[in-house]
Formats: sequence, C-alpha cells, structure tokens
Amino acid sequence: MTSSLETEPVSYPPAEEFAATANAGSELQEAADADRLAFWATQANRLHWHEQWTEVLDWKGADSDYIAKWFVGGKLNVAYNCVDRHVIDGYGDQVAIHWEGEPGDSRELTYAQLLAEVSRAANYFTEIGLTAGDRVAIYMPMIPEAIVTMLACARLGLIHSVVFAGFSSSALRQRVDDAEARLVVTTDGQWRRGKPAPLKAAVDEALAKGEHSVEHVLVVRRTESEVVWTENRDVWWHDTVANASDQHEAQPFDSEHPLFVLYTSGTTGKPKGIVHTSGGYLTQTSYTHHYVFDHKPGKDVYWCTADIGWVTGHSYIVYGPLSNRVTQVVYEGTPNSPDEHRHWNIVEKYGVSIYYTAPTLVRTFMKWGRQIPQAHDLSSIRLLGSVGEPINPEAWRWYREVIGGNKAPIVDTWWQTETGAIMMSPLPGVTSTKPGAAMGPLPGISAKVVDENGVEVVLGETEANGYLVLDEPWPAMLRGIWGDTERYKSTYWDRYAEQGWYFAGDGARIDVDGAYWILGRVDDVMNVSGHRISTAEVESALVGHHSVAEAAVVGATDATTGQSIVAFVILKASSEANDELTSELVAHVARDIGPIAKPKAIHIVPELPKTRSGKIMRRLLRDIAEGRDLGDTSTLVDPSVFESIREKSAN
Ligand code: WTA
Repeated sequence: MTSSLETEPVSYPPAEEFAATANAGSELQEAADADRLAFWATQANRLHWHEQWTEVLDWKGADSDYIAKWFVGGKLNVAYNCVDRHVIDGYGDQVAIHWEGEPGDSRELTYAQLLAEVSRAANYFTEIGLTAGDRVAIYMPMIPEAIVTMLACARLGLIHSVVFAGFSSSALRQRVDDAEARLVVTTDGQWRRGKPAPLKAAVDEALAKGEHSVEHVLVVRRTESEVVWTENRDVWWHDTVANASDQHEAQPFDSEHPLFVLYTSGTTGKPKGIVHTSGGYLTQTSYTHHYVFDHKPGKDVYWCTADIGWVTGHSYIVYGPLSNRVTQVVYEGTPNSPDEHRHWNIVEKYGVSIYYTAPTLVRTFMKWGRQIPQAHDLSSIRLLGSVGEPINPEAWRWYREVIGGNKAPIVDTWWQTETGAIMMSPLPGVTSTKPGAAMGPLPGISAKVVDENGVEVVLGETEANGYLVLDEPWPAMLRGIWGDTERYKSTYWDRYAEQGWYFAGDGARIDVDGAYWILGRVDDVMNVSGHRISTAEVESALVGHHSVAEAAVVGATDATTGQSIVAFVILKASSEANDELTSELVAHVARDIGPIAKPKAIHIVPELPKTRSGKIMRRLLRDIAEGRDLGDTSTLVDPSVFESIREKSAN
C-alpha cells in the first residue's frame, strides 16, 4: 500500500447533511431491483407524453438487429418537454441559460425567451420546406443559437447532426454526406483565445466540390468576420429566423422517432453516425441528470463545461438539464481566456452549485496551481462531476479538496456516445465514493465485467481485469449506426452474440467492495483530453500526405491529456526526413481532421513492426512511445526492426 493510501481515506462516505436533502435514496435501487421495467416506466413519467405508451420495452435482440423499442406506442415532443412545459407550468421567467461569451459579453435567456427563439427557428425551418426525418448539420461554437437550433430540430422531428466546430472542412463534409443533410447551420466565425477564427469559410470549403445534399446554409453573425456569400444558398439568421413568428405549436412524435445522429470514432477510419431516438433517450437523460447531479430546479445553478459537439453537450447541456428545468451556465470559450481565472470568475458571478467537467481539465487546473481557484469564493459549489476518461485518484482528491471545499461529493460518470446517458456513477448522498472509481451501474442499469468467453471475472481479485458489457437493454441505448446495420452488429454485438450482450469497448475490474473501475479502451480508439479519436483515422490522414508511404498511430499515456497521439511514419523514397516535414505532417492532420487530432510526436522510421499476417503491432509501438522495455517480440517477422525504430524515436 502506498503512503498516500495510508493517510488519505480509501473511501468517502456521503455526508449526512447532503444525504438529508438528496434527490436519491436507497429506495431507487430497491425499486429497480424489484421490477426493472416498472422502474423505467416511473422514470418515463418524469416527461410529458402527448400519448401514453402501451409497452415499456420491446427487445428481441438479434432477431430485430439489436434495435430496441422503448415506450412503445408513446408519443411526445422532446422540445416541448425541454421548454414549453416549463413555461406552461408558470416558470417562463426563470433563467434557462446564463450565457457567457468568450470576449466578455453575456446573454440571459429565460424559458419564455427560449420558447420564442425555438419557435422562430422552427417556423423558419418549416418555411424552407424541411419536414420530419430530414437531417440538419449544426457546425457552431457554443452560442445560444446552437442550442436553439437543436431544440428547433427536435420540435419538428428533424434529425440533427452536430459537428464539433473544431473539426476540419473535410470532416464536416464527410458527416454532411453520410447523413445527407439538407441544411447546415453555422456562424461567420468563432472566438478562440481572444481572436476571431473563420468558421463559415470551412463550410464553403466543405461544399466547394462535387454533388452534395445541402440546400441552405444558415449563418449566425458572431464575430463580424468577413464572409463569402453564395446566393440562393446562404442566408443570415438575423434576416430570416429573427423575423419569423414566435408562435409555434409542437406536434407529438413517436417515442422511437430519431432525435439525432452524432458521429464518433470507431476502429476504422470512417466515423460512425450513432443514432438516438426520443422517448427512451429523454427519459434516461432526465432521470440521470436529476439523481446523479442532485439537481434542484429553481435553486441550483448548473454548469457542464462540455461542447455541444460531443455527446456530453447533447445529454447534459441540452436534453437532460432542460427537461429538468435547469438554470445553467453556457460558456463559449477556453478556460484560460483571458486568463486561468476564467472558470472561477464565472462560478462566482453566477453562483454555480453543480460543476461537471473532464479529468483532463482538472489536471490542467492542477498544473496551473491551486492559488488560482483559491483566489475565489467557490463556496456555492455543492457537487462536482467528472466524465470522459478515468480520473486518476490524485486529480480526484485535488478536485474534491480545492474545488469542492473538501465536502462536495464527486460523481465520476461512465458512459459513451452510444449509451446516450450516464450508465455508471455513484449516487450522491447514497454511495460511498472511491477516488478513481465510477463505482457501479445506476439503478435500472445492468452491467458485467467478463473475460473473452463471457465468464464473469471474480469479484475482488484485483488482477482480474475484464471487459465491460451491458447485459440488459437501457432506454437511451443507441438504435444503430446511421446507414450501416452490419457495422452496428459487428462493433457492439458480435463479440458476445451468444449471450446477447453489448460490448462497450472498455476494460474494467470490480474490486473487493464491488466497486467498478474503468480501465480505458481496449480497441484502437484513443482518448485524448476526453475526446475519442481513432488510430485508423489519424493513420489515414497521414498516408493521405504525398510524402508518406505508411503510418502507425498509438495513444501514449500522458500526464495531462490522458493519452497523446504518437505516430510512426515511413516516408516515400522520394521524401527526406527533417523537422520541416514533421511539422508539415502535424499541420496536415490538423487540416484533415481537426486540431484535436494533431500528433504530439511523429517518428520517422524505416520500418514498422508487423506480425507474420501483416498486422501492425501497436502494443509494441506503445511500449516504445512510452519508453518501456519491449515485451515478447517473437511473433514479429523481423525483431531487429525494433532497434532501428527505437534509435530513430529516441532522438
Ligand atoms: C471513456 C463520453 C472512465 C470510456 C461520455 C468510454 C470514461 C469513452 C468515463 C466514451 C469515466 C467516459 N471513466 N472512462 N467516467 N467516461 N469514459 O463516446 O473509454 O466521447 O468508452 O462519451 O470515454 O467516450 P464518448
């Protein structure tokens, strides 16, 4: 046992004071254990249904291509649940969004104002001929119009596909094409570290070549950057949406009507369009937001620091929180703009009480030093959340002590784009927490840790790591990969086809107390600052460069970002290795995918280690990237390859 474990508690029981008013109690688990489907039916009643469902779950596993139906026959409108309902209930004047722009401007939107904005956008979308089932791409920074657009789509049954505004024009085009979007909503530019950066220009570039499905590009003015205009295609938001009527009646849609597609990295170069539907998704995001964050509408000020380009932004900025009548902070920019005090200034300004972020940011705060948060009054914070990657115990303790005043419970929430909503987390006020552990499945959720044959790994044998599987369907589960049923089945279901379990792609272990520890991805997906990036995607970007013959990419452990991208590259005979070329390759990846996919190191090597069947041995490359001794190299075609690689990558 290490000394820190001797001095620091191994487990933090819930504070009595917190438990006394907590939304969750032990009865939740009891209810779920007694009757899981009845439990979910109760949760679905958190929502307004235009028409009641007749069956909670229709699940036939392989016989229906693993596509579940939840709340069968029910009809609802997701936007109505997130906005109208609160206005009707008399909360029109409650602030929904305290928006904070990066340059220091701010806006406040009450639920009544949000309803008016969403109605205007819905009226305009209808006017241009969009109808339920059409796809809309959203390529925007964190401004209120982005949320308004998502809700307007939901209101009309349009399927939104939010593309992170840090992605390149070619990444945008790939996603627009795959979903055949009819409308792209964007901004002239976005603020990044005090400077405006163009954004519409990337849309223009994306749509410059070849046939595409886009009929309109709707542009919000944000940075006053100059834009090039394509007549009959481009329209300003302030000329159109802003003038539309603010009255709009929401129509109900089937519980299984698709709500959105969100692309995420898989093990091949092509991103997967994860499909989510309405009733089950909203039920689980609403349920988890209420209990996991202990959210009290009208009292709490909630802040989730994610971007709407990722699933966390979808589920815990837009749908879960708004369905629960949240008052929340939405911040446009980076945490160090204009300086490292920005987040804490915002916490003080609005009295943030619930703060949800990623471990990579906690580690960045640690690096900046505790004197920065300590210069602020953070006493409003009563609960902290973590998401996106395993949080190391040191960061967990720092987070609790420095940000949480040694008392705020931390909810370490494990979930995925595919799961749609939180699956594992301690329940604040109920669960004792261990630094670094997601603790266990939430009431209503069922998970197992198993070996490759599906045999459960023995509880408490700390060396016994296994794979995390979900052995029962859950309401917010994905309903497939857009346009690719085969890939959906092979990625998630083939592995445990016999048992009918969902394979999450994460390693995990259960300790002596039954706590679950998530150990990270077991496939070729990297996790850099909580963002999923596929090795194959970066490799394909690299080989797309005219100087590169072959590339292999691995994720190496990184103290701040969790993992960092390390590339091993073989050049074409005509190219010469030098620093200029290396920087050019880094820039090339940023252009091709986006800055988040930039390799931290590129090693030019003469050969790549391969097995006899021609598979690149990434494990060995990871050993090199992390400076470890090499393990077993006996299956290699030519073990001496390593010496030359190691030599090259050492300098
Ligand atoms: C990882 C983000 C450990 C995991 C919501 C998962 C985590 C992937 C945690 C999904 C956590 C997410 N502890 N690992 N609390 N949360 N992960 O789709 O590897 O962007 O499979 O969804 O992030 O990433 P995604």
